[in-house]
Order: sequence, then C-alpha cells, then structure tokens
Amino acid sequence: MCGIVGYIGDREAFPILIKGLQRLEYRGYDSAGVALISDASELQIYKKKGKVSELMAATTSQNRSGRIGIGHTRWATHGEPNDINSHPHSSQNKNLVIIHNGIIENYAALKSGLSKRGHTFISDTDTEVLIHLIEDIKEHEGLKLGHAVQAALRQVVGAYAIVVMDKEDPETLVAAKKGSPMVIGIGSTGDFFIASDASPIVEYTKNVVYLEDEQVAVLRKGKALKIRNLKDKEITPYVQKLTIELEAIEKGGYDHFMLKEIYEQPRSIKDSMRGRLIADEAKVQLGGIVDYEAHFKQAKRIIIIGCGTSWHAGLVGEYLFEELARIPVEVEYASEFRYRNPILFSDDIVIAVSQSGETADTLAAIELAKQKGAKIIGICNVVGSSIARASHAGSYTHAGPEIGVASTKAFTAQVTVLTLMALHIARLKAGISDSRYRQMLYEMETIPAKVEAVLKTSPSIKDIASTYKDVKNALYLGRGITFPVALEGALKLKEISYIHAEGYPAAEMKHGPIALIDEDMPVVVIATKGANYEKVLSNIQEVKARKGKIIAVVTEGDTEVKSMADHCIEIPETDEYLSPLLSVIPLQLLSYEIAVMRGCNVDQPRNLAKSVTVE
Ligand code: M6R
Repeated sequence: MCGIVGYIGDREAFPILIKGLQRLEYRGYDSAGVALISDASELQIYKKKGKVSELMAATTSQNRSGRIGIGHTRWATHGEPNDINSHPHSSQNKNLVIIHNGIIENYAALKSGLSKRGHTFISDTDTEVLIHLIEDIKEHEGLKLGHAVQAALRQVVGAYAIVVMDKEDPETLVAAKKGSPMVIGIGSTGDFFIASDASPIVEYTKNVVYLEDEQVAVLRKGKALKIRNLKDKEITPYVQKLTIELEAIEKGGYDHFMLKEIYEQPRSIKDSMRGRLIADEAKVQLGGIVDYEAHFKQAKRIIIIGCGTSWHAGLVGEYLFEELARIPVEVEYASEFRYRNPILFSDDIVIAVSQSGETADTLAAIELAKQKGAKIIGICNVVGSSIARASHAGSYTHAGPEIGVASTKAFTAQVTVLTLMALHIARLKAGISDSRYRQMLYEMETIPAKVEAVLKTSPSIKDIASTYKDVKNALYLGRGITFPVALEGALKLKEISYIHAEGYPAAEMKHGPIALIDEDMPVVVIATKGANYEKVLSNIQEVKARKGKIIAVVTEGDTEVKSMADHCIEIPETDEYLSPLLSVIPLQLLSYEIAVMRGCNVDQPRNLAKSVTVE
C-alpha cells in the first residue's frame, strides 16, 4: 500500500508529482504529501490528511516550485491518518526527507536507540524513525547520502520502498526497496522518475528499471543511474521497455474506473486467451509453463493460494482442475498458509494468484512453499511484479491495468487463465475426452461476446439496485462452481457499498444463515443451468417460504426460476464450467450501481487499498 513518486530533472516537479500521486491513489488515500527543493535550495513540505485533491487545494497559494521532489499517498499502518503522520517525514536537523511504502518491523528498537542519542520524534510512524537513523549514520560516519541509506537499511527488518532527498544536495535522489515495488523511469533529458508502479511514469518515458530487493539507486540529474546492493556491490541497471499505454490507465469517459473495467471484460478476457487458445487446432498454448508441464503431469496435488478476489478465482480453479484434469486441489488463503507450517511435497504444484503481484501474504506464502521444495506457478496481472518474479513459471492474465480497488476484470482474467491451464493439463494427462476438450475450447471463444450480451442487462440491474440500495444485509448463494461466484458477489457489495453481505453454498443456508431470512433480506442466487440446478430451485423455495426476496441470475430462457424469483437477470447459456465468467458480471454491476446510489466512493472505498503490501 502507499504510493510513492519522485522526480529529478529540469521540469517543475510539483505537477509531475501530483499527477503521479493521483494515479497511485488507488494504493492508499488516507493522506497525501510532497516535498520540494526550490532552485534557491529551500525545502518545502506540504502534507495533509485526505485525498490528493485536498492537498492540491490547500497549497494553491504556496510556492510549489522546484525541479526535484518526492510525493506520497498513504494507507495508514503506524499512526492514525492525520497531518503529522502524513509523509514526507524529516530528520532531526530537517535536512533529510523521506517517503516510504512498507513497514519497518524493528522500528521500536531503533527508535529507542535513537532517542538515547538525543533524537526526538513528532509522529507515530516507523518511517520517521528510518529517516532519523539515516541522518544519524550520515552525520556520525560522515557518509554520503547513498551510503548512509545502505548502512541504515542493513539495520532494518521489514519491507520498504523509500525515496530520500537531502536539502544540502539538491541534485540527488536516493531510492531503495525491499518487498515493496519501485520503478525508475529514465527520461530523455537526463531526468528521472520514481514510482510504486509504472502508471505515473508512462506519460514521460517508456524506459524503466525495476529495482530489485535490497538495491539502492542513486539518481543524479544528467548522470547515469547508479545502483548498488546493501553489500555495496555495483549492479548494472537492466532497462526494460514499458508496454502499457496511457489510455489504459485513464477513465476513458466512464464515471469510475470500476465501471470502465467491468465494461472492458469482453476485451480483457479475449486478451487473456490471445495466442493461447487455438480452438480450430484443438490446442491450448501456455508458453510460460511449458518447462513445467512434466511437473503438472506428475503432480499429485495442486495448492492454489491467493487473497480476496484472487482467492475466489482460485476456488473456481479448484472446480476446474478437479473436474477437467482430475488432480486434487486445495485452495488456501495465503495469509493462513504461510503461518501454519503446511505439509508440502516436492511434487506439489503451488499456483499463486494475484492481480497486483505484490500482495505481501501471497509473496510470503510463495517463499515458504519454495523453501519446502514445491514448484510455484504464478498467475499475475502486473508484468514484472514481485510475485511474477518469485514464481518458477507462470502465465500473465493480460487484463491491462486495474485501477478500481474492487477487482473485476482481474477476476475474469484469472478465471480465464485457470480454465486454459486446467484444460491444457487435462489434455496432457489425457484426463478429458477429445470431444469435451474441443467443445470447451470452442465455447471459450464465444465467452467475450456473451459477456458483451450480459453487459446489456445493465438497465434492469440498475432497477434492481434502486429497490435494494438501502438494505443492511444481503445473502449470496451458489452451488458447485457458482459458489465462489457467490462469495465474489458478496465481497463486491461489502467492499464498495458497505452493506453487510455473506456468500454461502446454497445448501449450507439451512445450517444457519436461513435464520436471517425475512421479508427484508435480499438473497442473490446464481441459478444457472448445471448439475445442481434442481437443487438450487429447492433452495430458492426455502427462501421464498420465509418471505426472502430472490434476485436470481439465470440462464437465458429459464422459466422455472422466473416463476419463483422477485427479479431475474438472464445470462447466455454456456458450459457450466465456464459459467463463472458470465454469472459474476451482473453481480459486479449490481454492487457498482448500489454503491453509486448510496453515494459511496466506488473506486476508493474506505479503509482499503488496491495492493496490500503489508501483512
Ligand atoms: O493483487 P491481489 O490479487 O493479490 O490482491 C488480493 C486482494 O487484496 C484483492 O483481490 C482484494 O480482495 C480486491 N480488492 C477485492 O475486490
């Protein structure tokens, strides 16, 4: 969480920093701040609780000039969101300033040592401790800033992406990272851009260097980028070309990123399949896992790990792999897996699912699984992300940047890749009949057009939203492969509209949640055609008998559910095992419409951040 930006060059830094912070605001939005050094070597720090727009408004009359600066948007960990705890933070002598994403786990011990040496602190943050430590080392050991940062970081336990600036040396920025992402953009006029991801940089340059863990970069205007690791070994920067385009990270006429991303799904699903699904040749090609096909064939077990929506996609993957490839699957919350000493075998395959590729728990779970000898297959959206790099092999989802905090197109892209993977492995293991395999490939090709058709139901979903926008609770039910879709629907409603919602396997309802049902309780049921259809009809009857309100997602042309439900949303017919790609769309739209009607901040729901880089 937290977004960081930095600039050094010949342009005015403030507009670059502010625009960058707005692009990174999805990472955290408790407070925002910038520090600038003017041409007259004056250090200005502006920081404020609230959004970047509030910081802008509060500083309009200030001198915001300077060609070197750093900026931060915060998701609070240590210390409540307020002006003082906002970044940047200053050292004791006020010459050094820092922005930080991550957590310094041993900050209390460091702070007590520094206090004994006369340092005083004004915030509750771990970050302020780090800048005092850097200053302490710099002053006492007479080091240059880059070396002082290296020495300080050698004492730090935890995760960080930091940028440090020194009022006394306005030609230099020092950046470092461990466990939190950082990209350095190399401008064409000797200038440099720093950010937590590429979105603030792409407008200015496509040449970037992804800093690796425990690397410290020294950026001097007009000079070559210098990188050293914490052991002071010089590293040659590896310059890569960015492939994302500016349009992909802008709203493109939609009111919210979430809505844009929902509507992008016909395209993003197609992109996830592009070059991989060749139905006419009855072929699935997943270049990223070719070298691990033998491991998949021998695997006695697959463990899928992830968090939140990615965990839900993993649950869909469980149904797919077990049904198609006949490999036993366990799906684990990464945060639980990493701390429960799991039993792993060298022939286990661990599939790590993550949109951002930066989720701290998933990353730590991968490291644990690697130590225990398992093979890691990453399914990530963000190219070059930490999880993608930590995996032995993998397949990107190619959904394009997802900015809205609520995952939408990332989920369908993850499910698409898991489906392709399950089909491919099923074929390799000869666990699927030729006719079913071919049929599913042809059916997959039709999914983007069918998603397009589901999106057309949006006016009726808006009507349903207006009926239920003021409810306090909602229940989501599904059975079999639609159960994870129910979980995902409930999560979407909770996170953006703050309505309490529970997802349940439909048959489990009578073991407890049925007690909640009365005439005020909307129950969203995924009642599409499939093996459990008749059973779901009975579950709907059970709800109706207790006067609950049924909002059903049904297969086009269904008349039975229609005769029982209060509202029906039709989706095109498809293979049951592909149906999550369609049935989740109305649930995304329903939560979006309800959140908008309730006046919620859809793209930046309270307390949340897009990538959860702290555990
Ligand atoms: O980037 P990741 O996919 O690893 O993120 C995992 C969760 O934090 C994420 O899916 C979260 O649950 C979504 N914001 C929910 O919409």
